[in-house]
Amino acid sequence: MSDYQKILNKIQDNVQPFFGKGKVADYIPELSSISGDKFGMALLTTKGELYQVGDAEENFSIQSISKIFFLTMALNQIGSKIWQRVGREPSGSQFNSLIQLEHEEGIPRNPFINSGALVIVDMLCSLYEGPKLNLLNYIRKLCLNPNIEINDQVSISERMTGHRNASLACFLKSYHNLENEVDHVLDVYFNGCAIEMNSIDLCKSLLFLANKGKQPDTENICLTYRNTKKVNSLMMTCGLYNEVGDFAWRVGLPGKSGVGGGIVAVLPGKYITTVWSPELNKNGNSFVGIKALELLTTYSRKSIF
Ligand code: DON
Repeated sequence: MSDYQKILNKIQDNVQPFFGKGKVADYIPELSSISGDKFGMALLTTKGELYQVGDAEENFSIQSISKIFFLTMALNQIGSKIWQRVGREPSGSQFNSLIQLEHEEGIPRNPFINSGALVIVDMLCSLYEGPKLNLLNYIRKLCLNPNIEINDQVSISERMTGHRNASLACFLKSYHNLENEVDHVLDVYFNGCAIEMNSIDLCKSLLFLANKGKQPDTENICLTYRNTKKVNSLMMTCGLYNEVGDFAWRVGLPGKSGVGGGIVAVLPGKYITTVWSPELNKNGNSFVGIKALELLTTYSRKSIF
């Protein structure tokens, strides 16, 4: 058995005491029915070796992990002009904070907090007739899985309860940092967050982040080297919101979380990994997922530091 497989097996055993300490997201009602004891982890190396444990083949709601796809699509289509409308600094506040946006006059701190992602989605709405399908096809192509879909119940559930995101979008509009209608931008954003994928497909679709922007097997360029460096840097500094410092301290890898309980993390040059465990800590990040990633870099003695 390979070292990484042994490590994943050991992680699965050693995270067991950490179940029951977090809480499954319920502010999007449809997410609350997921069983908290799920645990899946996949690791895909730049050499194409795949390792997995637990529920790695089970689909989950990718939620804010979709912000990586929004951003890489916008970088590919629009390039560095996107930085005129969104910043690149950590926010130090929760992912759906309203206060900061007023202080900074409608320019969100970074593309991974909700306000920043809404601005990026607005750019995609200006580019495409049917941005939801463009987004789905982009992801399907990256992981070579035509069956990736949006869970309509989840997106409707968030639409019914997403008053904070609606406030953020209206606020952005009032600062002229939203070109499209608020409802259209929110619809694409909620649907993007409601995409379902499993840990293995997430690793396949984002492996380019570990390989200087190229898919290792085909040599296809998914993102330029420079933009890959930038996306990984943003994940390191902004990917876990107000918990990004603690995540860096514990794990030592760029990461991006979602309230569905998934976290994607990258060791550039070596691997991409996805962990899924739906119970969240108070910052909205997977409680067990962070522990699992901490154990991964500890047991493998490899991190970016
Ligand atoms: O906008 C929201 O609140 C959700 N659709 C996504 C938030 C999220 O995943 C934050 N990540 N930990």
